[in-house]
Amino acid sequence: MISMKIFLDSANVEKIKKAASMGLVDGVTTNPTIIMKEGRDHKAVIKEISSIIDGPVSVEGVGSTAEQLVKDAREFVKWGKNIVAKIPMTQEGLKAVRILSKEGIKTNVTLVFSASQGLLAAKAGASYISPFVGRLDDISEDGMELIADLTQILANYDCETEIIVASVRHPLHVVQAAKLGAHIATLPPDVFDKLFSHPLTDKGIRQFEEDYKKAQAQAKK
Ligand code: G3P
Repeated sequence: MISMKIFLDSANVEKIKKAASMGLVDGVTTNPTIIMKEGRDHKAVIKEISSIIDGPVSVEGVGSTAEQLVKDAREFVKWGKNIVAKIPMTQEGLKAVRILSKEGIKTNVTLVFSASQGLLAAKAGASYISPFVGRLDDISEDGMELIADLTQILANYDCETEIIVASVRHPLHVVQAAKLGAHIATLPPDVFDKLFSHPLTDKGIRQFEEDYKKAQAQAKK
């Protein structure tokens, strides 16, 4: 891996296209809230995203039994070549993950808030686990401590599960995730945009533009 993979946590097709055009987006994650914000049909929007992005696109249903979760996942994977079924971190969810992993259907276990949950999800055969750092920070717990624990735990074993750092709220979360060696961070588009900016970069560009013009004017004298 050259660098930590970056996913977009969004279902906004225009924003996904813009970010993807830079060649820096490795996948997309969605959830029912993200889909609701777009006001579009779930299947239609996922199919469109799946056609834009080569990497994994996570899709989440609302089933609570293993049977329903497996049924939904089998349907979701028909929507595109790169669909990953997002499964909640529950006992029924992990039952579903075991069944789906045997069928070769990729899963992303979501709403992971503890190291023990992540450990069990990996053991069940999850392709990805999504610890939510921002929501832990919101209740005065340290989201990044969970990422440190999970990267250490997964590195101890020959385990193919990848960590998607989710509920990312600001660029510092992204940098901390990379320092800890997380495989992936999934970013809201506004956080993705913020990664590029620094006021000293803007100031430096302005200065160079002014000096270039001055140099040109001097050369003409
Ligand atoms: O996709 C799941 C996660 O990233 C949600 O983030 O901001 O609703 O806590 P947030």
